[in-house]
Amino acid sequence: MHITVVGSGYVGLVAGACFADLGHEVILVDNDQQKVAALKNGEVPIHEQFLPELLQRQRKKQLTFSDDLHGAVLASEAVFIAVGTPTTELGHADLSYVESVASSIPGAINGYKVIVEKSTVPVYTSQWIRQIILRNGGPAECFDVASNPEFLREGTAVTDFLFPDRIVVGADNQRCASVLRAIYAPLTDGSYYAKKDAIPQPDRAQVPPALIVTSTKSAELIKHASNAFLAMKISFINAVASLCESVGADVQQVCQGIGSDSRIGPRFLNPGIGYGGSCFPKDLKAFREVARECGYEFRLLDEVMHINEEQRKRFLRKVRSALWTLRGKRLAVLGLAFKGGTDDIRESPAIMLVEALLKEGCRISAYDPAAQERAREVLQSTVEFAESPYEAAHGADALLILTEWDEFAALDLQRLQQQLKYPIVIDGRNLYDPEAMAAQGFAYHSVGRPAVSPEIRSPLVTGASEKSVKNS
Ligand SMILES: NC(=O)c1ccc[n+]([C@@H]2O[C@H](COP(=O)([O-])OP(=O)(O)OC[C@H]3O[C@@H](n4cnc5c(N)ncnc54)[C@H](O)[C@@H]3O)[C@@H](O)[C@H]2O)c1
Repeated sequence: MHITVVGSGYVGLVAGACFADLGHEVILVDNDQQKVAALKNGEVPIHEQFLPELLQRQRKKQLTFSDDLHGAVLASEAVFIAVGTPTTELGHADLSYVESVASSIPGAINGYKVIVEKSTVPVYTSQWIRQIILRNGGPAECFDVASNPEFLREGTAVTDFLFPDRIVVGADNQRCASVLRAIYAPLTDGSYYAKKDAIPQPDRAQVPPALIVTSTKSAELIKHASNAFLAMKISFINAVASLCESVGADVQQVCQGIGSDSRIGPRFLNPGIGYGGSCFPKDLKAFREVARECGYEFRLLDEVMHINEEQRKRFLRKVRSALWTLRGKRLAVLGLAFKGGTDDIRESPAIMLVEALLKEGCRISAYDPAAQERAREVLQSTVEFAESPYEAAHGADALLILTEWDEFAALDLQRLQQQLKYPIVIDGRNLYDPEAMAAQGFAYHSVGRPAVSPEIRSPLVTGASEKSVKNS
């Protein structure tokens, strides 16, 4: 099929490259001309596994880049809108980018087309998109608006897109639904997975994925409700971690105990420094606001957000209690991205903590495998950027782990200890076993588990290590 994807950010670029790999003819449109030029030039503007391969494979074949929305829509049967939907000052989703795209579409409707919301948008947005297209002269019988929310996670975006748990299609008539069925057919009939050069299947993936067809309103709600539920799971386990700290229990053992219940499951029970990123914070606020406008006060979401903010403050207190005074202390920070596997620092709790520590008078030497350049734009010269975890640790009073990159879970501990001024690790992602860290000579502070030091070892912690589990 001929497809236009509007917006070449984390979602649009990945979706466009993946649709091309499924065999469709894709035009990726962005109004950022520099971005379009860079993409045409072969640059890969974001850090995502498998994306460089896909772009290289499909560039100038199934995938082209353009800033001409009108021309792209003329040539397409489906137009996916994947532009940003940031938060307004009042907490609503700012839909002005979506509206701007919708109002440019009508003049290019030269036959039946499906306009698809890929961006995360509040319920009723599809109706508004339809209104805007009609107001601008779009012929009513020549288009439908569908909702096809995207569930990919940064860091595993390509495999999430190609091996999804489910594909949700919100369409209010069969004609419209059948266009989306055809687009996703290579995944739902399994033919993509049989291709020799298909992107390798991740461990947990179940293929082929289910296609769930709903009304457009239900599909819009599914996306907001999914993100709200996941954020709630994170805040729930962070609240439990705080309780564990009060009573000297081990949250990893608690996670294992509750996560083995198949009704709950272990995933997303990751105690840490709280969620961040470009989605959860804004989507929770937007969901709360849309619920309020529809007459429902979703107070549960207030509490999820409150726990999340508290979690960062608790971590700051943890740093203070490990180091006593902070002014003038030199801290090594591992991780600036909002999570591992991505260079995205939007709403990164790591960056927020770095900024709070700078305010307290700390000096910071930071390292992130992918987010360094983006972080430099925000933090500028307020922190030193190191080329490796060991360079960051050199001469530091303590090491802070703020992002769960795989490489931070496999540090050469002896080398690390030689670099640090004092062997103190404050781990906001629970990447290490406390017992093992104490045995290596570290004072080790983590989330929801008793702190350990080489001299004082808690008997509770000794038992914990055998059964501790890593969540994913
Ligand atoms: N990032 C994620 O992990 C993720 C996951 C699922 C859903 N989403 C949702 O997908 C949407 C896009 O997110 P993102 O992270 O890709 O955003 P992004 O900010 O990375 O990219 C948006 C892109 O749209 C372009 N754009 C804006 N207005 C345009 C216009 N009028 N015409 C053409 N291009 C235009 C921008 O130049 C930019 O390249 C959001 O609604 C987000 O909530 C994001």
